[in-house]
Amino acid sequence: MDRIRIVGGQRLNGTIPISGAKNAALPLMIASLLTDETLTLENVPRLRDVQQLFHILSNHGVDHSIEGKRNGQDGMTGQTVHLSARAIVDTTAPYELVSTMRASFWVIGPLLARMGEARVSLPGGCAIGTRPVDFFIEGLKGLGAEIDIDAGYVVARARKGMQGGRVVLPKVSVGATHTLLMAATLARGETVIENAAREPEIVDLARCLMAMGARIEGAGTSTIHVEGVSRLGGARHRVLPDRIETGTYAMAVATVGGDVLLEGASADLIEAPLALLAGAGVGVERTNSGVRITRNGHGLAPVDVTTAPFPGFPTDLQAQLMAMTTRADGVSHITETIFENRFMHVQELARLGARITLDGQRATIEGGAKLKGAPVMATDLRASVSLVIAGLAAEGETTINRVYHLDRGFERLEDKLGRCGAEIERISG
Ligand code: UD1
Repeated sequence: MDRIRIVGGQRLNGTIPISGAKNAALPLMIASLLTDETLTLENVPRLRDVQQLFHILSNHGVDHSIEGKRNGQDGMTGQTVHLSARAIVDTTAPYELVSTMRASFWVIGPLLARMGEARVSLPGGCAIGTRPVDFFIEGLKGLGAEIDIDAGYVVARARKGMQGGRVVLPKVSVGATHTLLMAATLARGETVIENAAREPEIVDLARCLMAMGARIEGAGTSTIHVEGVSRLGGARHRVLPDRIETGTYAMAVATVGGDVLLEGASADLIEAPLALLAGAGVGVERTNSGVRITRNGHGLAPVDVTTAPFPGFPTDLQAQLMAMTTRADGVSHITETIFENRFMHVQELARLGARITLDGQRATIEGGAKLKGAPVMATDLRASVSLVIAGLAAEGETTINRVYHLDRGFERLEDKLGRCGAEIERISG
């Protein structure tokens, strides 16, 4: 199994290209199930989760091809992918394929909408809480589906097709919003999704669906209206930049100091984290080509943050922020409200010398700790990158085991950081 070795203490200087958003690319790829025409997606990141989704989609009958590199493109340029679901050959998403990635459960929406049936294994994914699927089930029932749970599978049927309806989500859920949105595009009549997630990735999916012929209003607000259509066609769509990758590298620079242009990043997608960094004394500048982050010689003020659905501070940046606050001049507090078990990085950060105490969902981080390199274990996707940040700040050598978590969501992380002066390498095997 691959490991990442870091020798800490270097500042970061240079340019980091920001990839297409994993959390947008996944639902966009799934949307290809809704049409027998070709959906072309540009700026798709090269990630393990994307590869895994190709497998899952091909099991349903989706052909995919990836365009070769063009002149002027390098390995950091996102890929262009053509997805074509001319015929759905199988409406079952089996356990072996679904268990490693929760987002693959979302195929249930388009399969039901197009084929009137779906049998999808209950999901797996990061071990960051129970993450049930009750909102999906209730929501799809609200759109006319009959649903049973059988031997670890959700078995859904809509013999006469999906029927528009009003769904109120009990709590904001990104995945349930994506899934219901996709299902509603081909339902008969109007669907209203209330308490919908407002994440930029929802807006990106809605834009793509509209380019495919869907009629959607209100994506990006808490009430989304969908007027069902009888069929959708092909489209070409560019995946938006990854705001979590942007925030991660911004926090890395804030932690170790330096001057880095996050090329292709969109500050509009990540206002809350950038405002927080600016408030802590980090230089944040919007430029024509992205966002420039600087910290040269200035201290880092402590923060008090609570995670929240968009436009609040994202749970997906909580672990990275915690690594950063170990270097702050004072005591910081971070409260996690989205997932109940998302503090597994705390123990690993402590192995590097961080001083963190937990009280339920609230972490208190004593800044100014002197971090020292050590072997650590990646536990989930975002937690593992927080260990990278802490390793960059620690004195001496840090080895991060179970790097496959990182490969799920961070494209060429060691290259991107290495180009900016970090001493970081992947050790294979
Ligand atoms: C998505 C993101 C993930 C991010 C999360 C919250 C992708 C691929 N993943 O995950 O990176 O951390 O949003 O921003 O986009 N819940 C239920 N019942 C349900 C569905 C959800 O109780 O049926 C709960 C979850 O346990 C959690 C909360 O709702 O406490 C929000 O989860 P949700 O927004 O659905 O997360 P995901 O879509 O899985």
